[in-house]
Amino acid sequence: MSLADFVIFLLVVVGLCWFIHLCRTFTSNGRHKPPPGPIGLPLIGSLHMLGKHPHRTLYKMSQKYGPIMSLRLGLIPTIVVSSPAAAELVLKTHDAVFANRPKVQFSDSKTMAFSEFGGYWRSVRKFCNMELLSPTKIDSMAGLRKEELGFVVEWLKNAAGSGQVVNVSEKVARLIEDMTCRMLLGKSRDERFNLTEVLNEMTKATGAFNVADFIPFLAPLDLQGLVRKAQVTGKALDKILETIIDEHEEEAREGYKKLDKDFVDVLLSLKNNPPSIHEQLAKNIDRSNIKAIILDIIFGSVETSITAIEWIMTELMRHKRLVHSFDWELPFGMSPDELDMDETFGLSLPRTKHLLAIPKIRQC
Ligand code: HEM
Ligand SMILES: *[C@@H]1O[C@H](CO)[C@@H](O)[C@H](O)[C@H]1NC(C)=O
Ligand SMILES: *[C@@H]1O[C@H](CO)[C@@H](O)[C@H](O)[C@H]1NC(C)=O
Repeated sequence: MSLADFVIFLLVVVGLCWFIHLCRTFTSNGRHKPPPGPIGLPLIGSLHMLGKHPHRTLYKMSQKYGPIMSLRLGLIPTIVVSSPAAAELVLKTHDAVFANRPKVQFSDSKTMAFSEFGGYWRSVRKFCNMELLSPTKIDSMAGLRKEELGFVVEWLKNAAGSGQVVNVSEKVARLIEDMTCRMLLGKSRDERFNLTEVLNEMTKATGAFNVADFIPFLAPLDLQGLVRKAQVTGKALDKILETIIDEHEEEAREGYKKLDKDFVDVLLSLKNNPPSIHEQLAKNIDRSNIKAIILDIIFGSVETSITAIEWIMTELMRHKRLVHSFDWELPFGMSPDELDMDETFGLSLPRTKHLLAIPKIRQC
């Protein structure tokens, strides 16, 4: 999913939840009217108006209809919020009311991302927070991230030295995949399968604009062939996840002692030692949940990080004239050698000296 797609997805999701909420209040006391918005056509609603850049279109519409507007996307009534204050109402003040995501064609209710707000979701989230995302765990894996980053920086230095053209997207994608695999699976990217490629295909199928999500009675026709595509990639992905789990199980059976249990090890051991803080989850999980949770984390981390880095680099390139019009000086009379780029700063330790470059207009 591109960042733009993601923003739209988020807006639509938030909107749907908002609408369900509104409907409830509407039918219970009949006092509330839906917020202003375009009327739309029968069947397709306002879908035809969204254009090539829906986020920009929605922004323009919101200038006309206000920060909380309603429109129909296909048959689905949708509310779009587009001001910080309105977003805060939905995402913070009334968080619990809007926490659910709509059931779309490709949502798997066993994943954290799409399961209902409730006991199961809470137990998966607690598990991920404690076993992967806690500051202690994140810090404990800083070394491997630094090592992976070091490889890429060295490689880039060499490539730059010999004047090679470098595909940064490709390098960044490999780096993120390597880091994620080592943190989750305890080993580097597996040459036997192309995880990023499969994830990419999956994102294309599941993140595409899916007519069936907006005009549900068209779903059985699979007009865009998305179901077919998702099935093919789903199989490939399932095979990868099965291999990962099989190998971890085998290692555990052979009593192979690992210094550090990785995320999958911990997930698999839930079944064997149930009386733990994750008892609730242990009771409710089988192999399919385990696969869904691993996928949650892989899917949630790989594409998002790659997209964010690509996006930032692109913006820097787009504004290179601005960047090159200045000389950049370090604060406090620091020399570049004194810069400590260690990621632990900011993550779990405050920096004593901020990473800050001061622009000085370049004299030509
Ligand atoms: C630049 C990188 C990232 C961006 C822009 C991003 C963005 C987001 C956003 C907007 C959400 C939805 C939040 C909500 O609806 O409340 C989300 C959820 C999620 N993200 Fe990320 N994320 C990033 C990195 C990661 C990483 C590194 C991981 C895993 C290690 C991850 C795992 C997840 C999961 C599992 C969820 C679902 C959480 C839930 O349903 O409770 N994300 N992410
Ligand atoms: C660089 O790599 C990305 C990702 O593999 C690919 O989509 C893109 O087409 C490549 N760009 C060039 C110029 O080869
Ligand atoms: C994975 O992708 C790379 C480059 O895209 C390719 O060279 C390699 O053969 C692929 N490996 C497999 C197992 O498909």
